Amino acid sequence: MLELVELTKVYPGATAPVVALDRVSLTVGRGEIFGVIGRSGAGKSTLIRCINLLERPTSGTVRVDGQDLASLDTRALNAARRDIGMVFQHFNLLSSRTAFDNVALPLEIAGRKPAEIAPRVAELLELVGLADEARRYPAQLSGGQKQRVGIARALANRPKVLLCDEATSALDPETTIQILDLVADINRRLGVTVVLITHEMNVVRRIAGKVAVLERGRMLESGAVYDVFTRPQSETTRSFVAETVGYSLPAALRATASRHPGVGAATLLRVDLTDAAAREPLVSELSRRFALDLNIVAGRIDEIQGRPFGSLAMIAAGKPDCIETAIGHLRQRNVHVEVLGHVPADDRPAA
Ligand SMILES: Nc1ncnc2c1ncn2[C@@H]1O[C@H](COP(=O)(O)OP(=O)(O)O)[C@@H](O)[C@H]1O
Ligand SMILES: [Mg+2]
Repeated sequence: MLELVELTKVYPGATAPVVALDRVSLTVGRGEIFGVIGRSGAGKSTLIRCINLLERPTSGTVRVDGQDLASLDTRALNAARRDIGMVFQHFNLLSSRTAFDNVALPLEIAGRKPAEIAPRVAELLELVGLADEARRYPAQLSGGQKQRVGIARALANRPKVLLCDEATSALDPETTIQILDLVADINRRLGVTVVLITHEMNVVRRIAGKVAVLERGRMLESGAVYDVFTRPQSETTRSFVAETVGYSLPAALRATASRHPGVGAATLLRVDLTDAAAREPLVSELSRRFALDLNIVAGRIDEIQGRPFGSLAMIAAGKPDCIETAIGHLRQRNVHVEVLGHVPADDRPAA
């Protein structure tokens, strides 16, 4: 549905040119919810504005449903833009127009007749749960309701793609969840492809199937949300993931853990479990098979998109060769194991 190839955008800038996008390539399949995450200034808004050519890319290609947008004349481009709906962080509603008339606006611009507009707007307001607020003005609506108007307006011309630029960043956490669930529901019911731009991993996690991580105009990594969450490749991605599913070791343990194994020392391990391994009684199995004493000192067990995953920090005490064999056994079963350090065996903090 959407294909960006080597997309580059350089702004002139006040003193030196600003490279806002540096050869970004990504493909979004029909009907997907695709998240793009990055910190402020990463180039997210530039990316989204290049997708509908509000901003002309310096180089690279944007294809929407197979059409190269840059090759279109003004008229064809305007038609193609109607296939792309946009939702903004600050809603961008016209304060002098009611909810109804805000949603009607894109239909008026597209030259629809009033007799056609009224039932369509009613249907859209119903879809976003605002049937009873049609006559209210933006000032009379809550943030969540304003964003519902924004979403209804973006859907008015039955777009193939819905671009959301920080659509929930101005909302409180509870309203954020409601709006995200609405977007997911619309995606399911209408089959519209969604590109979700955000700086919050929780947003990606809740509804996106795939995610790309953007930093200083570059795409660091992309893939299925589950894979990126459970196997982040870059430091930036790791810190995003840590915001939503992270944990830290107890301070006392961090202070005593050493890189060097000592006589009779126990090993501090980090064990990341995904899919099948996350469903198995792995800890008791390790303990039994390899005669280890295992003490879980930190961790998190969770699920993403219905798939379980966990990460546990544990102290393993036992014969050194048994610990080695146990680690090998885990790795053979596709469990990611990292030796975080060594602690005195008789100095294990209580779990
Ligand atoms: N119109 C512009 N002129 C010059 N620099 C810009 C312009 N728009 C954005 N930038 C710069 O491009 C970079 C990316 O900005 P932006 O796409 O808004 O990032 P984000 O949405 O991720 O916060 C920033 O360094 C920003 O200052
Ligand atoms: Mg932005």
